[in-house]
Amino acid sequence: MKLTRIIFVAILLSSSSFLYAQPIIVKADNPTATIQPTMWGIFFEDINFAADGGLYAELVKNRSFEFAAPMMGWTLQQQTPNTGTVLVTNRLGTDSSNPRYIRVTRNTETGNFGLTNEGFRGMGIKQNEQYNFSVLAKPESGNITLHVQLVDSTGKSFGESQSINISGNNWQQYKTSFTATGTALKAKMSVWFEGKGVADLDMISLFPQHTWKERPNGLRADLVQLLADMKPGFIRFPGGCIVEGRELATRYQWKKTVGPVEDRKVIVNRWNTEFAHRPTPDYFQSFGLGFYEYFQLAEDIGASPLPILNCGMACQFNTAEVVDTTQLDPYIQDALDLIEFANGDASTKWGHLREVMGHPAPFNLKLMGVGNEQWGPQYIERYKIFTRAIKSKYPNIQLVNSVGPSPDGDMFNFLNDTLRALHADILDEHYYQSPSWFQNHATRYDNYDRNGPKIFAGEYAAQSVATVSPLNKNNWLCALSEAAFMTGLERNADVVKMASYAPLFAHVDGWQWTPDLIWFNNLNSYGTPDYYVQKLFSDNKGSNEVAILMNNEALKGKDSLYASACTDAASNELVLKIVNTSSQPVSKQINIDSKKKADAKATITMLQSSNLDAVNSIESPQNISPQTNEIDVKGKQLSLTLSPYSFTIVRVKML
Ligand code: AHR
Repeated sequence: MKLTRIIFVAILLSSSSFLYAQPIIVKADNPTATIQPTMWGIFFEDINFAADGGLYAELVKNRSFEFAAPMMGWTLQQQTPNTGTVLVTNRLGTDSSNPRYIRVTRNTETGNFGLTNEGFRGMGIKQNEQYNFSVLAKPESGNITLHVQLVDSTGKSFGESQSINISGNNWQQYKTSFTATGTALKAKMSVWFEGKGVADLDMISLFPQHTWKERPNGLRADLVQLLADMKPGFIRFPGGCIVEGRELATRYQWKKTVGPVEDRKVIVNRWNTEFAHRPTPDYFQSFGLGFYEYFQLAEDIGASPLPILNCGMACQFNTAEVVDTTQLDPYIQDALDLIEFANGDASTKWGHLREVMGHPAPFNLKLMGVGNEQWGPQYIERYKIFTRAIKSKYPNIQLVNSVGPSPDGDMFNFLNDTLRALHADILDEHYYQSPSWFQNHATRYDNYDRNGPKIFAGEYAAQSVATVSPLNKNNWLCALSEAAFMTGLERNADVVKMASYAPLFAHVDGWQWTPDLIWFNNLNSYGTPDYYVQKLFSDNKGSNEVAILMNNEALKGKDSLYASACTDAASNELVLKIVNTSSQPVSKQINIDSKKKADAKATITMLQSSNLDAVNSIESPQNISPQTNEIDVKGKQLSLTLSPYSFTIVRVKML
């Protein structure tokens, strides 16, 4: 070997062993920031069948015949022509929220006659579970009875109800329950009519008895459980672009989502037609999961509500329609009334409605978003009017404001500068970027103004291919890159107060947008690797940020390491989060700089895969999921080997 080569190898070896030898120091007694209880939260939007067909456990699609094609989802069943007829009838003049119903006529007492509903890409039915059927009905003439039957994809029956006689003189609800004798992923429900006569029907509904907290007509228990397991600090709701609508007429209006479900006006879901490559013509919003259910869900899982309201602007990617600024009053009133609905006492109009719906106590709303992903001077104009109105009546409500769809560029800079000059409370930043962007921007907030508005990383997700590409995957590279980035959010917890991955849910057969945090079919659900990253950050939130240093510098990408550290006042633990984005293991000694003693054992929880393309799936939901072990702590030192492509959490009790 030539002398120069020997010298080169010697330098390389000594420098790498020097790096190897550099301990990581944690300044455990010197808090640098308070971590808000709201730090890690959830973004909910009705996209990808997140509400109807997803979280909202209703199994019947188009239960009130309000889809654009009134019988979409329903098939008429009769062996002999003219056994009966179904007529879609409209009473718009007397009921503008739920105008349509069907008139069923049976002409003869013989022969099968019925309607079959296909559900949301089928109905998920579980053996031995109880199903609750209900219908609003009114007899017109003769004598009609009905019964309900579940059939699997081969047409085999596996559950049937007793008959219900449609009697009485007016509209009333009829109910029956039965137990499924089999399990099916894509079942259908048939309603069979017997007798001879005419009856009007509406709100034909089937729910599992087993829902979240066993609430009648409630939410799908497995999906809420996945959310509850995240221990989210907040839930942003209802989006997302759905807040805005493609045009103002189809914007989200919270007042139309509360009160009796039959009075909640069904409208098209904006994701129905958004992507030519993923058309979803049967995507509508029933609002069975409306604002009351949202507040209740947030309360159930200990999250602060964060509603986002339309500010008189439709989606700027679509029509960009705006309300004239002189005509914003109804929009502003909606915002003020929502605060009253959440917090007002029973003597107020909207507080009274909350009480009538079953929740006399306030929901303790403290945050509200004005507009979703808006931009341009037209947003600033409307922001000023909204802020003045809301702050003058409710000075303690913190407002979240948009800085547009991108994390940089002219649009961002304009909004960022203007909203900072106007002393906005919280800026909502969105980034749908490549995995490398996430790794490279772990330093994003290091130089933000510490005295300016706080930051809400309101929508983010690493895109394995490109934003809105249907080929994006929730793979390990994306999740690992988000973990690296999130150490930067936590390190800057004095500026970043909240963060949420987006979107949240996707039905495997009904999605429009990928990647998404949680995927499900009609029976099962799973968290992606990104889900476990979010969950681990939230589970290990801590209360005070402390410095974690190597060579006196924060770990933010050098040697492929990213880290943040905090103390947890409730458990007296020191919590470290370390991401190794390299393909090699890294061995490190960690020294805890503290006056306290450390426990002799530490808990290590690791999320790891040597395959950056690895994903979780319905078949393999835990492929990438956290594994927990214990290691020894010697004095205040730990020796850690960080696996290749790993995210490691260390918890040490300080005594
Ligand atoms: O999360 C999907 C969409 O991305 C949201 O609706 C919108 O706010 C953003 O453009």
